[in-house]
Amino acid sequence: MEVVGLDNLSGGFRRNLAATIPVCIGDIRDPSFLESVWSDHGPFDYVYHFAAYAAEGLSHHLRCFNYETNLVGSARLINASIHHRVRHFVFASSIAVYGAGQLPLTEETTPHPEDPYGVAKYAVELDLASAATVFGLRHTIFRPHNVYGERQHIGDRYRNVVGIFLNQCLRGEPMSILGDGMQTRSFTYIGDIAASIARAPLVEGAVNQTFNIGTDQPTRILDLANRIAHAVGIEPRIRHFPARPEVIHAVAEHSKFHRVFGVAESTPLATGIDRMARWARELGPCDPSHFGKLELAQNLPLIWK
Ligand SMILES: NC(=O)c1ccc[n+]([C@@H]2O[C@H](COP(=O)([O-])OP(=O)(O)OC[C@H]3O[C@@H](n4cnc5c(N)ncnc54)[C@H](O)[C@@H]3O)[C@@H](O)[C@H]2O)c1
Repeated sequence: MEVVGLDNLSGGFRRNLAATIPVCIGDIRDPSFLESVWSDHGPFDYVYHFAAYAAEGLSHHLRCFNYETNLVGSARLINASIHHRVRHFVFASSIAVYGAGQLPLTEETTPHPEDPYGVAKYAVELDLASAATVFGLRHTIFRPHNVYGERQHIGDRYRNVVGIFLNQCLRGEPMSILGDGMQTRSFTYIGDIAASIARAPLVEGAVNQTFNIGTDQPTRILDLANRIAHAVGIEPRIRHFPARPEVIHAVAEHSKFHRVFGVAESTPLATGIDRMARWARELGPCDPSHFGKLELAQNLPLIWK
C-alpha cells in the first residue's frame, strides 16, 4: 500500500513516521483540512482512523474536548470518507465501550460505557453501522486494550501506564500507582496487532465487524511496575495514590478475532517491556505534559492535581 499520514501532532511525533511517506499536519475536526488531504493526496481506498485523545480517566474532566475530538472529529472523517467513496474504513475503538462488571468482555456483550471517552468510542461505532446501512461504507472496528511498545508517547502523564512508569524510572522518580496495584490489565505489544489491523480491509470476514484485539494474559499493575524497573535496571520504588473509579479487572475475550484473522503473535510481557525500555533509554526521559485548563476540576484524582 502507499500510505499518507495525517496527524495534528498533539500527541504524536513526526519522528515516529517513515521519512519517505507524505504526512499532512492538521486536525480531523477541520473539514477544510480534510478536503485538502484528499485534493493533495487522494483518492484513498482505505482510511485507518486512530486519531484521538485517548486519556480515558481524564475524559471526565474534558467532556467537550473529548466529544469534539473523539466523536465529532471522527464524524468529520467519516463524512469525508463517504463523500470521497472510500472503500473501507478501519476504526480504533476501545474496550472502554464495555464499562465495568461485564466480564469476560466479548463482542456479544452489550456495551455500557461509563466515561466520556468510552461513550465517544461507542457512538462512533454506532455511527459507522449507520453509515454502512445508508451509504454502504464498509468498515472494521477494533477494540484494543492496553497497547504498549516502542515509539509510544511516554511523556503524557494521563495515559499509557507502561510509558508513565518507564518515564518515572528514567527520571529517577517513584512509580505512581492508584490504589493497591492489584488491579489487572492485559498489556498488548503493538507489534502483535498492527499487521492484523492493517490487513483488515482485505479480510472478507472482517467487513462491518467488530473485534476485541490484544493479548489474553492479565498482569497486576504492581507486577508491571516491578517488571519495568527490572528492565530499566533499577530497584522498584513505588508511591501509592488513592484509587480512582475505574474497572478493576479488564479481561477481553478474543476468539472472534482468532477465528477471522488466525493466530496472532503473542509477545511475552517481559520481552515487549525489555524492547520498549531499551528504546526509551535511548530516547531519554520526557517532561510529563500537563493538559492545560480542564473543563471540570472537581473530583480530579489527587495524582493529577
Ligand atoms: N493505546 C491503547 O492502549 C489504546 C487502547 C484502545 C484504543 N486505543 C485507540 O487507538 C488509537 C491510537 O491510540 P494511541 O495509544 O496510539 O494514541 P496516540 O496518542 O499515540 O495516537 C493518536 C494520534 O492522534 C493524533 N491526534 C489527536 N487528536 C487529533 C486530531 N484532532 N486531529 C488529528 N490528529 C489527532 C495524536 O497526535 C496522536 O498521534 C486511538 O484512537 C485510541 O483511542 C488505544
